[in-house]
Amino acid sequence: MSTIFDGLLDRFRDYLASIDSAMVAGEAARIGWDMPARSLEPRALGCLGLLDSIAELASADTKPLTQFVADHRNELRWGQTYTAADFGQGFIDNYGWLEVFGTRGHFVNDEVAAGLLILGPDIVYPDHHHIAEEVYIPLTGGAEWRMGEGGFHIRAAGEVIHHASNVNHAMRTGKEPLMALYIWRGGPLAQKSTIGSGGRG
Ligand SMILES: [Fe+2]
Repeated sequence: MSTIFDGLLDRFRDYLASIDSAMVAGEAARIGWDMPARSLEPRALGCLGLLDSIAELASADTKPLTQFVADHRNELRWGQTYTAADFGQGFIDNYGWLEVFGTRGHFVNDEVAAGLLILGPDIVYPDHHHIAEEVYIPLTGGAEWRMGEGGFHIRAAGEVIHHASNVNHAMRTGKEPLMALYIWRGGPLAQKSTIGSGGRG
């Protein structure tokens, strides 16, 4: 019997397949998609109210995934790695992620973790870095992204952003919330990021 988690994984995979990028195609091809499900209790977060405007902002390409997540938000296990001690309560109220697969997500995968990040409007996610290599694809446009010594640049939905291991990166949102798809590989997949500019960037 097909579950809502199968539906989530199908839409996640379909969206990756729609991205015209050799890097993303390579990542998707290396993922063993026949993953065992992991039984997880749902967990809600304060930021889930943003899912309605995220689904409204979505394009035809990103609508199937964003609307599905909005519709099934209460059946999913949402997580946070940071606490208010890191970036303040305003950040915590406007931040969360859903691990679709990985070492703690709805499907078991010890090689690669992937999911969806939510940031609310007018939020700064300051410089941070981690060992794992990371690919991000914004599902909503308008947020600004930076990495290494570079400045902030607005990234559109569907753009592919690659963060090499231990390179600093940061994001800041404007008037609209952000949802971004992420893929983590090649490091501890549940590691809390190191905050600040101590990395290679
Ligand atoms: Fe990151």
